[in-house]
Formats: sequence, C-alpha cells, structure tokens
Amino acid sequence: MATLGELARQHTSLSRDEVDHLQRLVGEWGMLADLSFADLLLYVPSGEGKWVTIAQVRPATGQTIYPADYVGTMAENELPLLTTAFSAGEICEGEISVDAVPEPVRMMAIPVRCDQRVIAVLTREWSSRSSRQPGELERTYIGVFGRFATMIAEGLFPFRGPVADSSAAPRVGDGALVLDGDARVLFGSPNAVSALHRVGIGANAVGMRLAELGFDDSPVRHAVETALPVIEEFDQTPEVTFLARCIPLLSRTDAGPVPNGAVLLLRDVTEVRKRDKLLLSKDATIREIHHRVKNNLQTISSLLRLQGRRLTSPEAKAAVAESVRRIRTIALVHETLSREPGDDVAFLDIVRPLLRLAEEGLQSVDRPVRFTVQGDGGRLPSTIATPLSVVLTELLQNAVDHGFPEGSDGGDVVVVLSHDDHQLHIRVVNDGRTLGPDFELGTATGLGLSIVRTLVTTELNGSISMRVGTSADFEAVGLGDQLNGVGTVVDLTVPV
Ligand SMILES: Nc1ncnc2c1ncn2[C@@H]1O[C@H](COP(=O)(O)OP(=O)(O)OP(=O)(O)O)[C@@H](O)[C@H]1O
Ligand SMILES: [Mg+2]
Repeated sequence: MATLGELARQHTSLSRDEVDHLQRLVGEWGMLADLSFADLLLYVPSGEGKWVTIAQVRPATGQTIYPADYVGTMAENELPLLTTAFSAGEICEGEISVDAVPEPVRMMAIPVRCDQRVIAVLTREWSSRSSRQPGELERTYIGVFGRFATMIAEGLFPFRGPVADSSAAPRVGDGALVLDGDARVLFGSPNAVSALHRVGIGANAVGMRLAELGFDDSPVRHAVETALPVIEEFDQTPEVTFLARCIPLLSRTDAGPVPNGAVLLLRDVTEVRKRDKLLLSKDATIREIHHRVKNNLQTISSLLRLQGRRLTSPEAKAAVAESVRRIRTIALVHETLSREPGDDVAFLDIVRPLLRLAEEGLQSVDRPVRFTVQGDGGRLPSTIATPLSVVLTELLQNAVDHGFPEGSDGGDVVVVLSHDDHQLHIRVVNDGRTLGPDFELGTATGLGLSIVRTLVTTELNGSISMRVGTSADFEAVGLGDQLNGVGTVVDLTVPV
C-alpha cells in the first residue's frame, strides 16, 4: 500500500513542507478520531476537480462506519463539501451518501491550512444511527474536537516541529483531562479520575487547578508557556508513574495565537516501568557475573604464572605459559561481556583484543607480523563467543608459531569475518611458511589443534578446514603480488 508521502507525490504538486504538515497532522490524528468518536479521512485535490483520499483513521472510542480502506481511492459524493471547504477556507458540514453505508452519512469538512494556504481537507464522517448516546463526556470531547478543527482551519494545528511519535503517547481512552487556560480542570474522563484516585486525589477535581490538587502540573505549564505539546513521564508518588501528554489549545487573536486551554492525556505506566527496572537489574546482574568470572580467571592465570616462574624445565615453562595465554583469552571474552548489556556480544569487540593479545605475545622485532581484521561477525550469544574465542586464539597462535617462526621475515595475519542469519564464517590467512607436506588436520597431534577440533565439532557444531594459500587468497584480503603456495588459509564455519 502506498504511503501518504507517496500518494501526495503521485497525485499532487504539494511542496515538501506541505507534505510534512500533512504527515504531522496524521501523526496526531488518532487523538482527534478518539475525541470525535468518528472516522477521519484526509483528502487532497489532485487536479481537474479530482480528489484523492490519502489517509484514514478509525476511532478507538467509537464504532467505525468504514470497515473498508479508502486510502488511494478517488472521492465521489464527497466532492461538493470538499470543494466548498477548500475554496471558502472554512469548516462546513453536510450529508453524503456512501455505497457501503445504508443510512446517510454526516460529514464535517475541515480545510487544512499550512502557511496561509489551504492544502487539503480533513473530514469527520459519522452516521447519526451508529454514534454514541451523547452524555457529558461525548459533549466535552466533541467540543474539544471542534476547537482542534478550528486550529486546523487556521493553520495552528498540527504544531511545528518533528513528527510526534504518537505510538508511545497516551491515548484519549487512557484518561483525559480538559483544562482551561489557568490549568483548572474543566472535565475529567472516568479513567483520568481513576488515575487521580490511585495517587490519593479523591476530591472532585472539576473547577480545581492541578497544582491545588497536588498533581504534578509541570507538563501543562510547559505546554501552555511554549504553546507546544509536551510529553513527560513523572513519578506522581513513589508507587505510581504517569506518562502525560499535554496538548495546548490555541485561539487566534489580533496579537497572534494564544493558548487558552489544554488537553492532558494520562497513562499509568507503573507496571511497565516496574518491568523495565526488573529487566535492567537482570542485565546488570549478568554483567556483574561476567565481571566476576573475568576476575577469577585473572587470578587463576596469575597463580599459574607464579608457578611457571619456579619451574626450571623450558618445556614445562612453555606449557604453563600456554595455559596462561588460553585462560587470558577466556577472561577477555568475559570482560567484553561484562561491558555489554544482555547476554550477547558484537564478535568484533572480542576479535580486536584477541589480535592485540596475539601481537603482544609475539615479543620479537626481527620478524614483524601485522594483524588485521576485515568484515564483521555480527552479534553472538556468549555460549558461542567463548569457545570461538579460544579456537581463534589457537589459530592466531599457530599462524605466528608456524607461519613466522624465529628466523623468518615476518608478514601478515588477516582475520576475515562474515555472517548471515544462520552462519558465521571466519577465515584466518597468513602469508608465512606453509603447512608441512604430510600435514592433515584430522590427525594433527598438537594440543592446539586438538582443542580446536574438539570445540569446533562438539561445542560449536561447526566445520573447519586448513589448506595452503594461493595467490587468489592473498589478493582477496589485499595482500597482492604474493607467490602461490605459501602461508596457510584456515576456514571456519559455525552455525549461530
Ligand atoms: N598456521 C599454520 N601454519 C603452518 N603449520 C601449521 C599451522 N597450524 C598448525 N600447523 C601445523 O600443525 C601442527 C599442530 O598444531 P597444534 O596447534 O595442534 O600444535 P602446536 O602449535 O605444535 O603446539 P600447541 O599445543 O602449543 O599449539 C603444528 O605443529 C604445525 O606443524
Ligand atoms: Mg598451536
């Protein structure tokens, strides 16, 4: 279905500002439909006497008379009223017949003015048969709708500024207070009165100022002072949180528009906020746990390092140093997790420090090795991120140990990440010495690759392959003019 913007572009020559004006109007008109208990439609002239419907909204407070969608259709029986309202620039009312509705339909046509020019017509369409029995609430709401209608015709509504996100704002049905220019309550809907009861305001509010009632009136003062709508959330009592939206009512005077009333929509968001707070504290707990795990792992690696110093056999020293390195890798993942909200991490945030760790571990100036990462691995749950980091560390370590052993010239190690909805691909390329002629991943007996094989196949359910690099591989990662048959390419695929 075409959007309002698309329809306006297709059928009219309205300027960008004018289309924005209509967009803002439609952003607010859920409230207008609720106040008028009626269907609202927005028509624009599309030349040669034709009019097209570009938006439609149904009331949440009453019954629609139009189950069908009219957006994008041409007006027919509505034409006389539309053109009258448009050319006279005044609100007019009349009766039309609509095929889908058996009885005559009442229609109020409101010219929509933007910068002195009428650019569209907003209609309120209802049937006297299906409309609600009028009581005080109905009369008050329709009266307020009438004031908004006048503001629309005078170019005072919608308000300037960004299109309001009315999806989060309270609606009329949540609770509405109608106020005069001094923030005195003229009327309170039953839901608004109940909300006031919940915060201990039991007195009849009508005729009283909000401040006198002990109610936080800052959104109202703000809205009346600035002549702009205000949305604000506040704790009315320690137990009750309200989301309030205050829309000023303006009248045109010789001195320009002045606010002389307001509508205050109120929603009790206490439960929602409580849940938010719980969620927040759950996130904080998870982060704290990761932080502690990291600390514990660091303690373990320090203990091991101390123990390693006391050893004399170089082989034993090396083995302990390896373990220290492996534990540090896992600690690093937990450190990243302790900084991120929730239980998943951007994999890149782990890969970068892992590369740094590998770089630091390579204390040698005579064989400089550059580590780079390309692409993006997306976000991963911690259950995958931890084993994957261990695997990646082993692969990086091998690239250094075996690709650039002591006495070699150094070179590049490139990690390439890519992902889609189901899989994460990691490629580790180095351009150093390559695999031995009878190397086979399945039967390699070192501890490093044993860890890699075990984690990849059991924990991660993934697959891994290793092969000799080709010039195409080096080209692809930006290491041009390389010889064929050097270095190693490791490919790792993990379902996520
Ligand atoms: N990137 C690589 N380039 C060249 N040879 C490699 C590479 N990765 C692994 N190999 C070969 O595979 C063997 C097994 O590797 P593995 O990581 O399992 O053990 P290791 O590195 O020798 O010892 P460690 O247990 O300390 O990791 C290595 O000894 C090496 O011959
Ligand atoms: Mg190794």
